[in-house]
Amino acid sequence: MRFRLHFLIALFCMGAATSHAQYNTLRIPDTLAGTTFDLTARDTFDQILTGNQTVTGGYNGNFWGPTLIWNKGDVVHINVHNRLNDTTTVHWHGMHLAAIMDGGPHQTVPPFTTWSPYWKVDNNAGTYWYHPHLHMKAEEQMNMGLGGFIIIRDSVESALALPRTYGVDDIPLMLTDRKFDALNQFTIAPYGDTMLTNGVVRAQYNVPAQVLRFRLLDAAIERSYNIGFSDNRTFYVITTDGGLLDTSVGLTRLLIHAGERYEILVNCTGQSGTTVDLKAYNSALPTAGVAGGENFTTGPFGNYLGHKDFNILHLVVGAATGTGVTSVPHSLTTNTFIPASSAVLTRNVSISDSTGVPGILGPNAFILNHHLFNINTIDYHVPLDNTEIWSITNTGNFGHPFHIHDVEFNVLSINGSPAPAYQQGWKDVIFVPAHQNVQFIARFADYSDSLHPYMFHCHIALHEDEGMMGQFVVGNAPAGIMNIAQNSKMKLYPNPVTNALNFEMADGITITHAAIINTHGQLLKEFELSDAKASLALSFLPYGMYFVRLTDTHGASYIKSFIME
Ligand code: C2O
Ligand code: CU
Ligand code: CU
Repeated sequence: MRFRLHFLIALFCMGAATSHAQYNTLRIPDTLAGTTFDLTARDTFDQILTGNQTVTGGYNGNFWGPTLIWNKGDVVHINVHNRLNDTTTVHWHGMHLAAIMDGGPHQTVPPFTTWSPYWKVDNNAGTYWYHPHLHMKAEEQMNMGLGGFIIIRDSVESALALPRTYGVDDIPLMLTDRKFDALNQFTIAPYGDTMLTNGVVRAQYNVPAQVLRFRLLDAAIERSYNIGFSDNRTFYVITTDGGLLDTSVGLTRLLIHAGERYEILVNCTGQSGTTVDLKAYNSALPTAGVAGGENFTTGPFGNYLGHKDFNILHLVVGAATGTGVTSVPHSLTTNTFIPASSAVLTRNVSISDSTGVPGILGPNAFILNHHLFNINTIDYHVPLDNTEIWSITNTGNFGHPFHIHDVEFNVLSINGSPAPAYQQGWKDVIFVPAHQNVQFIARFADYSDSLHPYMFHCHIALHEDEGMMGQFVVGNAPAGIMNIAQNSKMKLYPNPVTNALNFEMADGITITHAAIINTHGQLLKEFELSDAKASLALSFLPYGMYFVRLTDTHGASYIKSFIME
């Protein structure tokens, strides 16, 4: 009770302070450029609130990490030194690189060791980021403040008249929120009560009266932010997660979800002496289904920013720099997107609530393909150079930002309609709304490796940690070596097959997914089901030998060969 009272007084004071414009200056993360980088992850502390310092985590600093600036085509070497008292991993979110360099849950860095990945930067100019990805510890380690921006530059982006003076007219904005306890320490919680912009509470920044570029990153544990300016001015989206849009897209609101990046331009030319606020208009979000729209203050998801409008950054516009950009370019680049007709297969991924899945989890967890993440199971074998449509169907009541490693994709449809103009670019995170279907297309052109998987998951760190994740390898893995020992639980008939292949599983095994694979390991056909026995229509298969791989609700696979007549 006493704590609550204290808290309310603190809230009241914060409100009063805001009206007296008691802001804190936005921090701009340091930059590191070149081709060799040292990142040291540490437990440290930071003066975020007045009074007690907060125990935090940082790379080379107190909270968050340096912005790494890379050129497309460079080979970068990174030494990740782990000085935390825990194992960690560092994932290069959005990078196209070999799975073993990816920094997912498999590339663990034990305390007091160094991990040194390297790769050739192959991504388009844009805003990317790095963050911990240890399985079941992503929320905890991201909550400490571990993360950093990556800015990639290339010749296409460099040729455009865009603001690119870092910290002056090109400003990275890391959006997150935290809950503090009475001693100013972070609570591990999906939603915070306090907005932190680049780690700063009630942030303000002096900007020149010209075109400004903000690199927005939703680095929150869970929250989405419905971005807009306090005078409802139009701003222009110029990039999606993986690089430039063809043309800038004018908006007054932009909903950004966990893991996503958008670069926006806002024209402050001639506005010296004015102020404007960049805000989250989250009162406009539905009270169910979009993270941050919920309107309650108690329970594990309770918070004081839910369904509210709140400030992200107070901008104080001063004199122009004299060399600044004064107009927003319309045409930016010419992307060559992947035609839907080039897909050789559609992979169906389901998102559902785990409620009612026997023996799995409590009522708050969400799952992919009806089972929890299992680090020892490869969910998909993606044949090398496959172009695939991933069709993600959310049958649950909550929307999720779906992220895939390795590739940048093009969104083909959102519930049957084309993606809005500001999402018609390369992306690696896409929000899948409750009860909707989202389809994207991607090409898995290289980095074949049958041992090291890439991840796909919900970017809400809590959901990911709870098991809303899967993994795939790229390459033509031989089908016959997988889980042969389990096959006594599986009956197949008739064999040879003429039209349909029937399977029947031992008691208690429910199959959710069936794959037909040829002797080269190429996936030919997939079936989504939910049965202990079923019949798969295969009359399209030419004569020959094949494998069927059945996957059950727990992610276990059962493989057998059969002959097609
Ligand atoms: Cu940004 Cu798999 O993560
Ligand atoms: Cu990623
Ligand atoms: Cu989720």
